[in-house]
Amino acid sequence: MVPESPSPAALRELGNVSIVGLQWGDEGKGKIIDLLSSEFDLAVRWNGGSNAGHKVEVGDKKYRFHLIPIGILRPNVTCVICSGVVIDPLKTLEEIDGLSTQGVTVESNLKLSLNANVVFPYHKLQDQLAESKAADGKIGTTGRGIGPCYADKANRSTAIRLADLLEDSRLKEKLQRIVPEKNAILHALYATQPLDWKPMFEQYRACGEQLRPFICDTTQLLHRALKENKRMLFEGANAVLLDVDHGTVPYVTSSNCGTGLSVGTGLPGKAVDTTLGIIKAYSTRVGSGPMPTELNNGIGDKIRERGHEYGTTTGRPRRCGWIDAVALRYSVAISGASAASLMLLDVLSTFDELKICTGYKVNRQVREWFPADALELQHAEPLYETVPGWHESLDGIRRFEDLPKNAQGYISRLEGHIGIPLKIISIGPGRHQTLIR
Ligand code: GDP
Ligand code: IMO
Ligand code: MG
Repeated sequence: MVPESPSPAALRELGNVSIVGLQWGDEGKGKIIDLLSSEFDLAVRWNGGSNAGHKVEVGDKKYRFHLIPIGILRPNVTCVICSGVVIDPLKTLEEIDGLSTQGVTVESNLKLSLNANVVFPYHKLQDQLAESKAADGKIGTTGRGIGPCYADKANRSTAIRLADLLEDSRLKEKLQRIVPEKNAILHALYATQPLDWKPMFEQYRACGEQLRPFICDTTQLLHRALKENKRMLFEGANAVLLDVDHGTVPYVTSSNCGTGLSVGTGLPGKAVDTTLGIIKAYSTRVGSGPMPTELNNGIGDKIRERGHEYGTTTGRPRRCGWIDAVALRYSVAISGASAASLMLLDVLSTFDELKICTGYKVNRQVREWFPADALELQHAEPLYETVPGWHESLDGIRRFEDLPKNAQGYISRLEGHIGIPLKIISIGPGRHQTLIR
């Protein structure tokens, strides 16, 4: 019998673990979070919103997550959504319903921060119109209102938090003031019809009522857990290269996702003992922006089909390419990951040879550090090391030593170029398709 999670003793050594995607998202974070979560007391989501999309397979069951922490699949784990997350209450309730039809209940173990900012219909409208009407330079967002909601958070006077949904007078005062302001902006920019604040008020106060049992001061809850030495697994959404400060700006999301755990949770940085990076065995990206190793050819298409690389949130085909060690060295540095999990290695079976990008040439100069400027990255020409591939299927392999020699060689070259150990190797979506070294 293959264990469905790493041994508790091995996990205990890691302390509180932060999971961070080291590429442009969709690295397979959901699978690893699910695998590890059985040994934690709390699963904590601290950034992003319903732009995140995780598919998780448990036996013959398939789950999709956007906002609810994946730890919810383990009945004994308390799942916390912190103030750093932007919460769409409609999507949250939809996700809770979907999970409950699959037999997953959230009653007592879901906690939502009073201080989390709320996504409203005008955020989604603005996000979608800005994208569809952009003359050039579309970001390729998920259209979930994430950017406009974070903008309101920074703007303060137009921010609405979950706590506001719980008090009619507060919510009414805010919507009565904010919706006309949004209407004026949206009309001036996109000639939209005005939105009516009254039905919005009724709908969102009703959502507040439904969510009331889950809403609390999550910062206090987390500090109490820290004091009691409860074990925490931090579920990072999105990824370092999509970080609003440290990613490929402007082609990023609107939250810190490679950094910012303290900001999102209210916990000190020392609350995290281990940062585990999640790396896909090749590169993918959805939406616009530079991607030096992108393959617009048959190899890219083959990776997309073998890896089923279509977005979990929007269904868009993902752009595919070779693994990029320059980008990964940067993400490791920014996130502080001390080890990583290498995902979807099985997708690379059947290639004669594989390439690893080890440097970039920009303006005739070789660069080993990821360029800070997205425009410069647009002109980066990848420099590759070629390694032999393998044709064997990885199905049924349960020990690292049983991987084809060339697959082991690929992993060892990657470790050399990225600079941290690849402690977990994933060879399929199932919990059991995981090799722990
Ligand atoms: P996340 O956003 O980082 O959680 O990743 P997504 O869920 O968006 O995308 C990863 C996809 O790869 C999901 O459909 C997973 O079920 C799947 N997956 C995860 N690990 C593996 C693996 O090792 N091999 C294969 N073939 N699929 C995997
Ligand atoms: P997970 O957690 C992949 C990308 C979008 C777009 C950009 C901005 O599943 O790995 P947004 O809607 O956030 O304003 O979009 O960021 N993006 C992701 N891409 N995986 C994600 O999350 C993403 N979250 C945002 O595709 O390019
Ligand atoms: Mg995803």
